[in-house]
Amino acid sequence: MNENQKHHAHPSPRRVQVLREDVARKIAAGEVIDRPYSVLRELLDNAIDSGADQIQVEIADGGTRLIRVSDNGSGMNSEDLSLCFQSHATSKIEHEDDLLRIQTLGFRGEALSSIAAVSKLEITSRAEDAPEGGVVIVHGGKKVSQTTKAWGKGTSIGVSDLFFNLPARKKFLKRSATEAMLCKNTLIEKALAFPHIQFEYRTEGTLRFVLPGVPPQIESNHLQRILMAYPDLGDEKLFFSVQGSGDGFSFTAVIGEPGISRGDRKMVQVYANHRRIQEFSLIQAMEYGFQGFLPGGRYPVAFLFLDADPAFVDFNIHPAKREAKFTILPEIHRRVSRSVQEILSNHAKQTLSYQQRSASPRQDIGVTSFLHHNSTGQLQGHPHGATPADSPPNSDFPARGVQERIPNWNRPMPRSTSELYEPHAEPMSSNPAPRHESEPYRYLGQVFTLFLLVELENSLYMIDMHAAHEKILFEQFSQNPRPQRLLLPLELTELDEPINPELLQELHALGIEIETNESGTYQIISLPGGLIGKELYLAEFLGGFRGTKDDLQRSLYATMACRSAVKDGDYINDRIAHAIIQGALQLENPRCPHGRPIWFEISKDELFQLVGRT
Ligand SMILES: Nc1ncnc2c1ncn2[C@@H]1O[C@H](COP(=O)(O)OP(=O)(O)OP(=O)(O)O)[C@@H](O)[C@H]1O
Ligand SMILES: [Mg+2]
Repeated sequence: MNENQKHHAHPSPRRVQVLREDVARKIAAGEVIDRPYSVLRELLDNAIDSGADQIQVEIADGGTRLIRVSDNGSGMNSEDLSLCFQSHATSKIEHEDDLLRIQTLGFRGEALSSIAAVSKLEITSRAEDAPEGGVVIVHGGKKVSQTTKAWGKGTSIGVSDLFFNLPARKKFLKRSATEAMLCKNTLIEKALAFPHIQFEYRTEGTLRFVLPGVPPQIESNHLQRILMAYPDLGDEKLFFSVQGSGDGFSFTAVIGEPGISRGDRKMVQVYANHRRIQEFSLIQAMEYGFQGFLPGGRYPVAFLFLDADPAFVDFNIHPAKREAKFTILPEIHRRVSRSVQEILSNHAKQTLSYQQRSASPRQDIGVTSFLHHNSTGQLQGHPHGATPADSPPNSDFPARGVQERIPNWNRPMPRSTSELYEPHAEPMSSNPAPRHESEPYRYLGQVFTLFLLVELENSLYMIDMHAAHEKILFEQFSQNPRPQRLLLPLELTELDEPINPELLQELHALGIEIETNESGTYQIISLPGGLIGKELYLAEFLGGFRGTKDDLQRSLYATMACRSAVKDGDYINDRIAHAIIQGALQLENPRCPHGRPIWFEISKDELFQLVGRT
C-alpha cells in the first residue's frame, strides 16, 4: 500500500466518546483556534481522518463569515453528532497507550469543541450504516438543535461568524485577503501531504481550483501534487524523487535540480506523518544534501515526506501539532542528507557522461557549453531559460579590489575573439554562450568536468572550479567571524573524545560557541555567519582535528572550504559558474588554501604563436 494511504485508508470504526479524565489530562491541549486558517486546518484533519477521498472547502470573507469543509468519508451517527463538539470527545483514542500508536491527524477530541465555543457551528453527517443523516447546530458552545435530515454520504461542517462572541480576538485578524491566503496555504499543505485526495477550493462562492487526486499507485504522486499546487515551479523534468528508509522510518524526498534554487526557504518543506512541521534539523538535512551544488545564500526546492513509526515520534507536544519530537532524529537526518547528496551527484555524473558522449568533432577543442547544449533536449533536469542573460549571477561574493588587479576592467570587449579574427570559424556557433551584458568576461562552459572556461580581455582562463570555490569560501569564512546564535543548538553526537578545553576557548574566539548539555554531549550554540549551514562539516572536523590551537583557524577554514566547495565532476549550473568566476577573478591571491594556482591563463598572443601565426 502506498505511504499516503497507509494511515488513512481505513477510517476508525470506533464511535465518538468522551475521554476518561486521566487520559484527557495527558493531552497537550491549548487554545488551538486563533485564526480562520486554524479552523480550516482542524476541519481538514477531521475530513482526512474520516477516510474521504474527496474534500471540498469553501470560505467567505477570509473565513470570518464562513468556512465549510465537506467530505465523502465515514460520517457520524446521531449519537456521534451529539457528542463530537464536546470537550475531549473523540473516536480516535481511548486509552493512554493509544497516544503511542496514533495513526490519525486528530487525537485530542478538542478541535470541534474549541471551534464550537467561538463560532456558529452546523454539522451535517450520516454514518455509512445509518438510514438517514442528521444536523446539529451549536452556537458559542451551546447546542441549539439536533434534527434528522436526508443526506448522501460523509460530513459537511460549516463554521459561521467566527469569534462572534469574542470581539477582542476578531480585532486581531488581518484583512480578509490575508486570512484567505493563509487558508489557501493551509489547504495546499494538506493537499501535498495527501496526494490521493481530491481537493476543491471555493471562495465567495466561486470555484478557484481543483486538485484532482493522484492514484497512490503512481510512484511520483508527491511530485505530481507539488506541481499542481505550485505550477510556477516548472516542469517535472526539473525534479527528482528519492526514497529512503531506516529503522522505524521511511521517506520520499522530492527535490528540484540546483538550477531552480531560490532566495528563501519557502520551498524547503518537511512533512512528518502527513503533517507539515517546522523541524529545523530536517530542513537542514536537505540543505546539507545540496552542499556543493548551491552557492551561499541560495536555498533548494526540496520537500521531505517522512513516515515515522508513531512509537518514535510524539506530536503531543504542541497544541497545533506543528512540532514533533523524534527519538530517531540523527539517523533520519543522516539518511535524508545522504540520499539527496547521492541523487544530485549521480545526476551530475550522468549529465557529464552525456556531455562527453555527445561532444561533436567541432567541439573537440573541449569547449562544451554545459547549460546551453540543448540540441537534443535530452539534458533532463536542466533549467530551461537559465541562460546568463536572464539569470543574474549570484552576487554573494564580495566585490573588492577588482579595478586594481584587472586593468581596463571596464573597457568594452569584443564579443568573442573569433568575431575579430576568424569570422567564419566561430567554434561555438551552434552552441552560443552569450556574454552577460553586465560582465566583462564571457563564460564559455565547463570542460574536463573541472574547468570553467572564460574569455577575458585578451586571455583565455581555465579556472579550476573546486580550487576557486574553495578559496572564495575560505576568504568568506575569514571575513565573517561575527557569531550568530543557531535557531536550534546542534548536537555533536559523533565526537568520541572530549574536546580539549584550550581548543574550546580558541573556537570561542573564532565565534564558534560550544556548550555541554545535561546529558554531557557537546552542542554548538553559535557560529560565525559564514559557517552557518555547514555545521555537519564542523562536527566532522572537530572529530578528526589533532593539531594545536595555533593551526586551528587555518586548518578549520581550509577544511570547511574544501568540504563545502563544488567538486571535480559536480554538475553546476550557469548561476553557480558565474558566481565562482566572479569571485575567482576578484581574489587578491588566486591560489587555493593549499597554495595551488586557481587558474591557468593563456593569452591570445601566446595562442596565436602556438599555431604559428603572428
Ligand atoms: N468530518 C468528519 N467525519 C467523521 N467524523 C468526524 C468528522 N469531524 C469530526 N468527527 C468526529 O468528531 C470527533 C471529534 O473531532 P475533533 O476534531 O474535536 O477531535 P479529534 O479529531 O478526535 O482530535 P483533535 O482535537 O486532535 O482534532 C472525531 O474524533 C470524529 O469522531
Ligand atoms: Mg480533529
